[in-house]
Amino acid sequence: MNALVFFILALYSVFSISIIEASKIESGFSIDLIHRDSAMSPYYNPSMSTLDLLRNADSRSSSRLKKFSLSMLSNENESPESFIIPNNGDFLIKIYIGTPPVERFAIVDTGSDLTWVQCSPCASCFHQDTPLYVSSKSSTFTNVPCHSQSCTLLPPNQHACGKSQQCLYSYFYGDKSFTVGELVFDSISFGSNVTIPKSMFGCGYYNNFTADTSGKPVGIVGLGAGPLSLISQLGDSIGRKFSYCLLPFNSKSASKLKFGNQAVIKGDSVVSTPLLMNSSQPFLYQLNLQGITIGQNTLQTGRTDGNIVIDSGTTLTFLEQPFFDNFLTSMKQTIGIESVQNVPKPFHYCFPSQPNFKFPSTILHFNGANITLTPLNLFSLVENYLLCLTVLPSHIQGFSILGNLAHVNFQVEYDLERKILSFAASDCTDLNLS
Ligand SMILES: *[C@@H]1O[C@H](CO)[C@@H](O)[C@H](O)[C@H]1NC(C)=O
Ligand SMILES: *[C@@H]1O[C@H](CO)[C@@H](O)[C@H](O)[C@H]1NC(C)=O
Ligand SMILES: *[C@@H]1O[C@H](CO)[C@@H](O)[C@H](O)[C@H]1NC(C)=O
Ligand SMILES: *[C@@H]1O[C@H](CO)[C@@H](O)[C@H](O)[C@H]1NC(C)=O
Repeated sequence: MNALVFFILALYSVFSISIIEASKIESGFSIDLIHRDSAMSPYYNPSMSTLDLLRNADSRSSSRLKKFSLSMLSNENESPESFIIPNNGDFLIKIYIGTPPVERFAIVDTGSDLTWVQCSPCASCFHQDTPLYVSSKSSTFTNVPCHSQSCTLLPPNQHACGKSQQCLYSYFYGDKSFTVGELVFDSISFGSNVTIPKSMFGCGYYNNFTADTSGKPVGIVGLGAGPLSLISQLGDSIGRKFSYCLLPFNSKSASKLKFGNQAVIKGDSVVSTPLLMNSSQPFLYQLNLQGITIGQNTLQTGRTDGNIVIDSGTTLTFLEQPFFDNFLTSMKQTIGIESVQNVPKPFHYCFPSQPNFKFPSTILHFNGANITLTPLNLFSLVENYLLCLTVLPSHIQGFSILGNLAHVNFQVEYDLERKILSFAASDCTDLNLS
């Protein structure tokens, strides 16, 4: 960490003592989860085609893949956290920070745990359309002391003491994005009736999003598994659980993100698989994918560890090689339709859509849970006539990601208390309206 940066940061300090506390939110709560490409999103661009959107999603997914792999290759001195590329999640939520509350859009990320926003007075910030968070204008703002337990939740080489003993943090990311600032407490609200009075988050005075210059994102809300995450902060008040039910890509309405008792999914169709946490990537939700059945053909991964990350911030699904090659061959054979000659990038298999076409049954086999995917989870209509397989090869040895298109029309519950992930096939349109 640059000494000059810390020196400048130290000038911003105010000293006070506070501890984490989240009020009990009895019945749980739910908030709108807005897809970045939907009409409700500040990113919405009606002139973009499905192919454009998927291509953009692919470049976001690929940089996340790079991030995950870097975090796995990193050594002990280089905390995995420092490699997260923050701004390429697919879903936004509206949050209101401070008192009086100011409305902002933040990116929701199940692949990282620190929540942060750009702060004023800013030493070096990327452009954003909305005003910066000004802690001095918020009556509920308090500092996090650098010797507090809260501050030490940050990896050792990513926190330090400021001039006034305040907690300074730094996150440097694989794509040269970064955020450096002060860890603070202030209220974060998700709408009129749900407020977390003392949320801990990063108030960034030096920030850069190298991949996104749209001016839309103001920061990140971390829903990862690590100790800094909003889920860990809400802790017992939400029973350490949340769930979502994602609508199809081009849906006009918002999906719901649910916390606490409201997040619990019930019914005969619920299946569960262990979350296999790994201390070298504590913020990732990892599952074991044993194999996939396509039609009559079952392919085994031969793996028993957490070989696949479930990530709401990645659009497409990436399978490790050579498993992907077998999967693709089997999918092509079972469907029995030749791929078009010029498959649009980034896809590997596209064919002209045809009426009454019957998709083969495709089942993912996780430890203790079989999940039958629908065509929507596997194919997207591209250029109005091509059906393209939204599963791509991962170029990282032994590493796969179950992206969010594969979660569409499933209720997905993350239970950190019991360390299980549950799925239930559902019509998310019905659920999100109720
Ligand atoms: C917030 O309001 C909604 C709609 O009025 C309600 O369903 C939900 O239970 C409320 N949440 C809390 C925590 O009171
Ligand atoms: C921030 O990112 C932009 C875009 O990649 C880059 O041009 C600029 O040099 C970066 N700024 C800093 C201070 O790193
Ligand atoms: C955790 O991840 C590391 C690095 O990818 C791997 O070598 C190790 O086997 C994993 N541990 C478990 C228990 O899966
Ligand atoms: C999942 O499917 C496989 C293959 O059909 C079967 O052997 C296994 O018992 C199923 N597991 C569960 C939990 O239903």
